[in-house]
Amino acid sequence: MTPADVSSIVRNHVRSALLGEATGHDWWHVFRVIGLAAKINATEGGDPLRVELTALLHDLFDEKFYDGDPGEALSACIDQLGIREAFPDEVWNGIIFDICHLGFKGGFDQTPLSLEGQIVQDADRLDAMGAIGIARAFAYGGAKGRELYNPDEGIVTVTTAAEYRTGSRHTVNHFYEKLLHLRDRMNTNTAKILADQRHQFMEEYLTEFFAEWESAV
Ligand code: ADP
Ligand code: NI
Repeated sequence: MTPADVSSIVRNHVRSALLGEATGHDWWHVFRVIGLAAKINATEGGDPLRVELTALLHDLFDEKFYDGDPGEALSACIDQLGIREAFPDEVWNGIIFDICHLGFKGGFDQTPLSLEGQIVQDADRLDAMGAIGIARAFAYGGAKGRELYNPDEGIVTVTTAAEYRTGSRHTVNHFYEKLLHLRDRMNTNTAKILADQRHQFMEEYLTEFFAEWESAV
């Protein structure tokens, strides 16, 4: 089994599992993360197949929509797809470990990851920033029935991972609890450069958002 075979088996599976998902974790998010991660990896020098598979599998059993143990589910998925032979056990265990710890979770999980895990984490976070990140945040908020912004609630900072996940604040709050912190959380220098521009765009967006709001009240 060649790396290209493994990649196409996993791509087909993930595409059909996530196509049309409505909270911003759809196949096209995964597609962009694969591309950004490959771009970052071109200068960072990780194992390309490991980077691609980590990117492909990273949202398949996300805690936001999967109730079971994501590590066990990923391991079963590797067997179902017949790709176990692609890597020795310790590499698969490393990939699964990285995937279980690469989510933001309010910024409370700062477990050290492998180089490939760090690259995919950077790519995943870049896709939560900038114009696309803004679109995803409001799509997620809409899917959860949340308000765009509510000045009576104001901006609330969260202090625990559980509070981050279970809170149901307006979506502008998400910029302050997560999106504006991502630039300073990039692992690789390549991603830091890409993050700068996306961060600046979000700052400009919020300035315009509040200016329009103020002009209406
Ligand atoms: P995490 O769920 O750990 O924040 P994800 O990468 O799984 O990280 O988030 C997926 C997408 O959903 C991101 O674009 C993220 O900003 C968005 N998202 C997650 N939580 C919220 C929220 N409370 N409000 C708006 N968007 C959110
Ligand atoms: Ni993701």
